[in-house]
Parts: sequence; C-alpha cells; structure tokens
Amino acid sequence: MAALKNDPVHEDSIRSMEPDRRTVFVETWGCQMNELDSRRFVGLMAREGYLEAASPDDADLVLLNTCSVRDRAEQKVYDYLGRIAARKRVRPGLLLGVCGCVAQQEGEEILRRSPAVDFVLGTGRIELLPSIVRRAEKERDRPIEVGFDMDEVAYTPGAVARTLAHRASITIIEGCNKNCTFCVVPTTRGRERNRRLTEIVDESRRLVGEGVVEIELLGQTVNAYSDPATGERLPTLLRALSGIAGLRRLRFVTSHPRDFDDDLIAAMAESAVVCPALHLPFQSGSDRILGRMKRQYTRGEYLDLVGRLRSAIPGIAMSTDIIVGFPGETDEDFAATISVLDEVRFSSIFCFTYSPRPRTAAARWDQDVPVRVAQERLALLNDHQQALQLQANEALVGKVLEVLVEGSDRTGQRVSGRSPFNHLVHIDGIPGTASGTFVMAVVEKGLANSLVARPLRRVRSADAGGTDLAS
Ligand code: SAH
Ligand code: F3S
Repeated sequence: MAALKNDPVHEDSIRSMEPDRRTVFVETWGCQMNELDSRRFVGLMAREGYLEAASPDDADLVLLNTCSVRDRAEQKVYDYLGRIAARKRVRPGLLLGVCGCVAQQEGEEILRRSPAVDFVLGTGRIELLPSIVRRAEKERDRPIEVGFDMDEVAYTPGAVARTLAHRASITIIEGCNKNCTFCVVPTTRGRERNRRLTEIVDESRRLVGEGVVEIELLGQTVNAYSDPATGERLPTLLRALSGIAGLRRLRFVTSHPRDFDDDLIAAMAESAVVCPALHLPFQSGSDRILGRMKRQYTRGEYLDLVGRLRSAIPGIAMSTDIIVGFPGETDEDFAATISVLDEVRFSSIFCFTYSPRPRTAAARWDQDVPVRVAQERLALLNDHQQALQLQANEALVGKVLEVLVEGSDRTGQRVSGRSPFNHLVHIDGIPGTASGTFVMAVVEKGLANSLVARPLRRVRSADAGGTDLAS
C-alpha cells in the first residue's frame, strides 16, 4: 500500500484485480506533522479495507489535510475545496472530509461555507476517522469532531501507511503550550500532549527491524517533550533511541530555544546517531520584536545557545524560521534580523512575511507594516542568505560526506540524498543506486541550495549487504 502513492500503474492494476475495494486519496498541505497525519489517515482506512488512490479523480473518499499557519495556506484549501465540490456534482457517491488545522480552526464554518463537505475532523481526533466516515456515509448528517483529549496522544502506532522504507517520522508530542502572539498552532493543535517514552522506543525498534535507518522525531515544540507517566525528557529519549542497533540517523524537529538546555546539548553531542543539524527558529533578531512576539528569549540568549551548541557539536548545521513585517517592525529591527544571519551562518532558512491569524494577539494590533515593505524585506533576507549559503557550500569542495540516497532524477543518472548535516547532495556516476543506500562522496561543487559530489564508495545499504563501489 504505502509505496503506491507514486506508482499509479501499480495502483490501477490492483484496482482492476480488486474492483470492489474502495479507495482513499489524501491531499496534504503544511508541516511534517500533517504529512505524517496523512499517512495515518491512509493507514487507518487501510484497516477498513480501503486502498490508496493515485489521484482524487478515482477516489471514493477524498480527505483534505489542511494548514492554516498563514493565510495563503488557508486560501489554497478553499480554492481546492471549490474544485473538488465541482467534481462531486458528477460523482454524488464521493465522500469529502476536511481534516487538519483549518478543520480544527473553522469547524462548522466549513460546512456552512462549502455544502459539498461531508464531515469535518480536527487534529485531535484523527483516530476517529473510520467511525466518522461510516457515520457520514450512513446518516448523511455531516458530522464534526474537533475536540482534544487533554492527557495523552491517541495513536495506533501500526496504522501508518509509510511511503519510504528507510526513513520514518514519529510524532512524540502534539500541540503547543507557548503562546507566540502571531501563531495559530496552539488553537489548531491544542495544548501539549505527550506519548509514552516506552511506546516511542518500541515503535522505533519495530521500524528499525523493518529496515528504517533514519528516524525523525516530530513535535511543534519537540524539545518540550515529557513522558506523561515518568516525566522523562527528550535527552533520555535520545539516549534510549541511540542504543537501538541498526539505527543510523536520528533527528528531531522543531525545537524552541527556550526549552533547550545543556543536558539536551550533551545528549546530542555524545550520541553517534543524533545528526549534527538542528532547526531552531529565531523569528526576529530584534529584542523589541521578540518581546512583542512573546518568544521568551532575547537575541543574546539565542546567540549564546548557538555558541554552546557549536562548541559541543563541532560543525553543527543550523537552520531557522524567520518572520518579517511583524506589526511595528522598523528598518532597524529588520537590520538586526539580517545581522543574525551573518553571526550564525545558517545552512538554510525558512522566511515568511507576517500573516495575521484569527484569534491571535498580534492580529488585534495596528502598526501594520505595508505589504510592499514586508515583501521587500523578505526578498532582501533571501538574497542575503543565498549569498551566505553559496559561500559556505563552495567552501565544502573536497570534503567527504556520508550521503543517504533518497531518490534519483528522471533520467536515473543522478541520485540525490542528504548528508548528516542535512545538505542536499547530488551524485553522478552511480545510476540506479537504491534509496536507503549510504554513499561516501567527495564534494566537487557547491551551489546555493545543494552540493554536487563524486562517489567514493558505497558504505552500506539499508536493503542489501553493502557492496563497495569503485572510486
Ligand atoms: N514550532 C512550530 C512552528 C509552527 S509554524 C514548528 O513545528 O515549526 C512554522 C513557522 O511558520 C514558524 O516558525 C514561523 O516562522 C511561521 N509562522 C507561524 N505563524 C505565522 C504567521 N502568523 N505569519 C507568518 N509566519 C508565521
Ligand atoms: Fe507557534 Fe510559538 Fe508554539 S510559533 S507552535 S506558538 S512555539
């Protein structure tokens, strides 16, 4: 099932062999957590006998897993909804469900605004998908489920239809207890709920047994993790997972600077599998703006943390999120943000223009930065960072990196993968190398957003014995 998403031919042949099987298609927007939730949707419906459809056109059940973190993301959902609604007129049997953050945020409003929608399922009610589908089908009463259980995460670990054999994401904490004044996530994902450490370790062990070599732990504030029974924190979890034989890479995302302590740095530094790469959003380089955002740290504290990470984990690659055009942001505030790029030298950044979100504190403030100014700042920030990245990547020429192959281009000639530092590395000369293979490669060219490398030898394959490749 899992591999079918990118394999429509296979999908069609299965469908013709089993014409009675119903099919589900999930359209996903937003973060990695949504991506994973979508695989949970497919996995849960597989237990009900559904196959995954390659497109919404031949699906019996279409689920929109939505994002509302910025207004553009939200608008895309409504546009898509309009297109599916039109299709529903010619296929009345089609069931249409809206899930994810827009579902959580808008609830009944979606049913009012779009008569084609058959049910609404919020982010805290994923496990109810099979039952809400049955109810929507039988009773046609357009049910809504958008509550949160406040203690633990309801999760059926086996019911995730994974798309990659060698890499897996695992949610360890859902929701967020911070209240950044710009952010809708605490509304759409609720307050923090943690999974049990033993359950996470068991699931990881099972995945590694099935051939997974890289695990990424997910949470909106992943480093706020705390076992609901024992209170054990992320460093303990990292140490426990590092002991799993066969696990080669461990990552976790997204961390909040406020929850990062020296024990977590130590756990990263001492583990042979925790990757030397960290995503740590700073949002703004100006203390005045950070205060208005309620980020709970200063520029100095952020830079000090980066310094401690760099001295404990030599070469650690930092990436970040930045918002420009937050209400009241002046040219001086923006200059302070740019200067953080120079000081930290991030390996990549994600930057956004501020977008007012419903029921957030900042949405009620005036002092709006004009759209044109915000967009100019965004472009300046990106240009500045691109130049820094090019410089840093050019300096890597000659360096040997271990690359975990993730796929190849259309011709099959060039394979691509990630280094432990999360560089995107393209390798020529080993066509057809399977995803999940580790290749040692020497960097020949540094581009702004990727590296081009020459293979030295294959170190070990996730699925085969590990043949050497001639250099
Ligand atoms: N801790 C979360 C953050 C969620 S939102 C995580 O897992 O990544 C991801 C990023 O979107 C934030 O770090 C922030 O930079 C950006 N963002 C959030 N709300 C925004 C808004 N209202 N306008 C613009 N960007 C926003
Ligand atoms: Fe959002 Fe701030 Fe939490 S950005 S997800 S409220 S840490």
